Amino acid sequence: MNGTMLNDRSSILSLLETRRSGKPRELLDPGPTVEEMERILTIAARVPDHGKLTPWRFVTVADDQRDELAALLRGALAEEDASATDAHFAKEDEFAHYAGQLVVLISAPVENHKIPVWEQQLSCGTVGMNLLLAAHALGYVAGWVTGWRAYSPRVNAAFCEPGERIAGFIFIGHAARELEDRPRPELASVWRLWQPPQR
Ligand SMILES: Cc1cc2nc3c(=O)[nH]c(=O)nc-3n(C[C@H](O)[C@H](O)[C@H](O)COP(=O)(O)O)c2cc1C
Repeated sequence: MNGTMLNDRSSILSLLETRRSGKPRELLDPGPTVEEMERILTIAARVPDHGKLTPWRFVTVADDQRDELAALLRGALAEEDASATDAHFAKEDEFAHYAGQLVVLISAPVENHKIPVWEQQLSCGTVGMNLLLAAHALGYVAGWVTGWRAYSPRVNAAFCEPGERIAGFIFIGHAARELEDRPRPELASVWRLWQPPQR
């Protein structure tokens, strides 16, 4: 193996070992350029996919559509929570205007197919993870959130076709400050050698 490959390998490993999310509300502009977004989404789409069904897709929300997104979220909130206060509506305005690029990841499983929907949803999850990694590799910070918005019928109707659902809102931008890592599970707590059942 030559030195360059070793170097590549160690930087890829260090990338995988250091990826962490940023809080979307704390991100700063600029987000990725159009070319970088194409690259991020191309990498994101390169995932295991049993049956090659491509059971997911992306919807990006342009900068000049953020006001419309805010209006959608405010309308959905009013519909879902009669006790929502001004502060709650203001939070939706803020969410819709978070910095960076916004990708809405859509789970689009093929129903009544021999590949179970569960496996198709798992494939969608790997897309989200790849997207985070690609953003990190390009020097950005990304954050994947759901919250009530991802489950709101009105918000879903604005992004999804029937049978689809929102897997997450993924914001990609820059960190305002050095990100703190969060505690990671002890390997020993998630790794067991298989014990075959006693016969
Ligand atoms: C499907 C999904 C939905 C999530 N939704 C939220 C959310 O609504 N709010 C939140 O604070 N974190 C949410 N998270 C967690 C963050 O995206 C992030 O992964 C975590 O805070 C930090 O872990 P990391 O640095 O390993 O990415 C979600 C994660 C996943 C996979």
